[in-house]
Amino acid sequence: MRAKASWGYDKEDMAAFAPSLLVNGEYVAANEVWVGHDSTERQGWYAIEVTDDRAELEYFWVAPEAQGKGVGRALWRHAMARAQALGARVMGVQADPFAQPFYERMGATFQRDTESDALPGRKLPYLEAAVPDPDQE
Ligand SMILES: CC(C)(COP(=O)(O)OP(=O)(O)OC[C@H]1O[C@@H](n2cnc3c(N)ncnc32)[C@H](O)[C@@H]1OP(=O)(O)O)[C@@H](O)C(=O)NCCC(=O)NCCS
Repeated sequence: MRAKASWGYDKEDMAAFAPSLLVNGEYVAANEVWVGHDSTERQGWYAIEVTDDRAELEYFWVAPEAQGKGVGRALWRHAMARAQALGARVMGVQADPFAQPFYERMGATFQRDTESDALPGRKLPYLEAAVPDPDQE
């Protein structure tokens, strides 16, 4: 919630987003969920859902106080390595519009607009990145 709010969304928007930001134990048991941290503090986390050769990046959040310091890049690299290890060839992400330039900086490319589940009518960019073939590295 703090990471999402860091873009400046108002209370009404945050209330609409809240259900889609909740993760329960069932989800964590069923998917890989990784937390990035320094020696003392949790700085960010993400989840990855893999089906066949496709990975979906979910819940990619860096705490406001840790943003702009390379944590997002480190988590992205980790996610790509996990996607590769789990057999994915493509990683997709439905992005917050403010985060699109970050994903593009990481090498992902815009594919299409998608509709937000939280705010019907709101368009969210969907991006993809190729996951390197481990046999060709
Ligand atoms: C988007 C987010 C994950 C980026 O994480 P971060 O730790 O701040 O990013 P980093 O410091 O690792 O930045 C890596 C590179 O991306 C660039 N970058 C990061 N955020 C950017 C942005 N909003 N616009 C343009 N470039 C951005 C950085 O300048 C840096 O570039 P460099 O290669 O020149 O150094 C983080 O800001 C965040 O959690 N935001 C709020 C939650 C959110 O929207 N998450 C995404 C949900 S889809």
